[in-house]
Amino acid sequence: MAEEQTERDDGAVAQAEESLSVTDNRTGETYELEIHDGTVTAMDFRQMKVNEDDFGLMTYDPAYTNTAHCRSDITYIDGDAGILEHRGYTIEQLCEDSNYLEVAYLLIHGELPSKEQYENWAFDVTHHTFVHENIKKFMEGFRYDAHPMGMLLATVGALSTFYPESKAITDDRERYIAAVRMIAKMPTLAAFAYRQSLGLPYVYPDNDLDYPSNFLSMLFKMTEQQYEPDPRLSRALDVLFILHADHEQNCSTAAVRAVGSSQVDPYSAVAAGVAALYGPLHGGANEAALQMLDRIGSVENIPDFLEGVKSKEERLVGFGHRVYKNYDPRARLIKQSVDEVFEVTGVNPKLKIAQELEKRALDDEYFTSRKLYPNVDFYSGLIYEALNLPRAMFTVIFAIPRTSGWIAQWLEMVDDEEQRIARPRQIYTGERERDFVSIDDRPSADPLYPPSEPLSPEVSTPDV
Ligand code: ACO
Repeated sequence: MAEEQTERDDGAVAQAEESLSVTDNRTGETYELEIHDGTVTAMDFRQMKVNEDDFGLMTYDPAYTNTAHCRSDITYIDGDAGILEHRGYTIEQLCEDSNYLEVAYLLIHGELPSKEQYENWAFDVTHHTFVHENIKKFMEGFRYDAHPMGMLLATVGALSTFYPESKAITDDRERYIAAVRMIAKMPTLAAFAYRQSLGLPYVYPDNDLDYPSNFLSMLFKMTEQQYEPDPRLSRALDVLFILHADHEQNCSTAAVRAVGSSQVDPYSAVAAGVAALYGPLHGGANEAALQMLDRIGSVENIPDFLEGVKSKEERLVGFGHRVYKNYDPRARLIKQSVDEVFEVTGVNPKLKIAQELEKRALDDEYFTSRKLYPNVDFYSGLIYEALNLPRAMFTVIFAIPRTSGWIAQWLEMVDDEEQRIARPRQIYTGERERDFVSIDDRPSADPLYPPSEPLSPEVSTPDV
C-alpha cells in the first residue's frame, strides 16, 4: 500500500491511501494510479501511450458494468447482504414508518422534513396536481389503443413546453417548482392515460385525498361524489411507491443523468427516464412474471416448470438480479403487502403458485448456488392485478414514484462540479479512407436494411 499526496484543483492535498501499479508491457513503463473509494480514475490510463502521437489507453466497458459514473449521497445498495438504504435510512424503516411523499422529500432534500417542512411539501405537491387543459387535448389525440407508457412519455416531455422557465436549471426556485410539479402531475398523467385507453372521462385530482388515494380516485372514480379507497389499498400502494422511489444508477436513472448533463430542462431529462423504463428489460419484468404464473397454471405443474428452467428452456422471471445476490429487500416487503391487499380483494389464485414456486426454488441447489432469490417484480404484479390494474399500467405505476428518484439524481448531477456533458468514447471498427463511388458504378448487392420487400406507400394502407 503506497501513501501518496496529490494537489487538487482547489489547492487541497488529497491523500491517496492506496494505489495500483500498472506496467504497460508495450513500453515497459510502470505507472502508479491512485485508488480512491475502491476506484481508479479512467482518465489516468490516458497517459499510457506507445509514442507521442498515441491517443492513450482507454477502458472498454459496454453496459457500464464496472464503471462508477458519479459520486452519490442518495441511495446505498449492498447486493450481497441484501441492503437498500436511502440517505442512510433502511428501506425497511422507511416502509414501516414513513410515507411516499416524505421519502420523496428525503431523496430530494437529503434529510427527513420537520413537521412544518413536511406540511408545506405535501401542500405544494397536492396543489400542483392539475395539468393544463391543453395536455388533456394532447392526450385525446392518441389512438384508442395507445400504450399508456407511450402517452406518459410524450406528455412528461410536453410539460417542458408549458414551463419554459424550468430551463433555468441552477435557479433554486425553478428547480423546486419543477420537482413539485413532476411529482404532483405524474399520477394525473398516468391516470389520464389509463382512462383514455378505456374511453372513460378523465377524473380530476381531489385535493382532499392523500397522494396514493388521489391516484386511485383518478383511476377508478365513476359517479360517486367522492371516491373513498379502502385505506389498506392506499397504504399498500404507498408502500409500493416507497419501494420503487430510487435504486441508484439503474438504466433509467443513468438515462436521466446522461440527458440532463446536456443542461436540458428537467422535464425533458425525466422523459428520457420514462423512455428507458418502458423497455422490457427494465420496467416490464413484473408483467412477464404474471404471464409466467399464468403459464404454469397450477401448483402441480411447478416441478416440470422448474426442470424447464434448469435446462434453460425457461426463465424464472422475478428471480435473480444484477446487483442483489441475496433476497431483494424490496421483495420481502412487497410480500408483506400482498397479504394485506388480498384481505380486501380476495386471494388471487396465482399467489399460491408464486409462494410454492419460491419455496421450491429456494430449496433447490440450482438456484441457491447461483444466488437466485426473488426480486421486486416477483410479487408486485400480483398486487397490481389485485387492484384491477391492466398489465399495460404496471410500468406506468413504476414511473410515478421513480420520478422522485430521477429528480434527486438530476439535482445531484447538476450540482456536481466533477460532471460535464456525458460523452462516452468508442472503439471504431469500421472502414477508413474509402474513395466515394458514384451510384451508377456501385455493384448491386442485397440491401442491408430495409430487408428485401419495398414498403407499401402509407396512403394506400390507411390502417386506422
Ligand atoms: N431464472 C433462471 N436462471 C437464472 C435466472 C432466472 N431468473 N437469472 C439468472 N439465472 C442463471 C443464469 O442462467 C446463469 O446461469 P449459468 O451460470 O448456468 O449460465 C446465472 O444464473 C447467472 O445469471 P446472469 O444472467 O449472469 O445474471 P445477470 O446478473 O446478468 O442477470 C437478471 C440478472 C437479468 C435480472 C436475471 O437474473 C434475469 O433474467 N432474471 C429474470 C428477469 C427479472 O426478474 N428481471 C427483473 C429484475 S429487477 C428490476 O429490473 C426492477
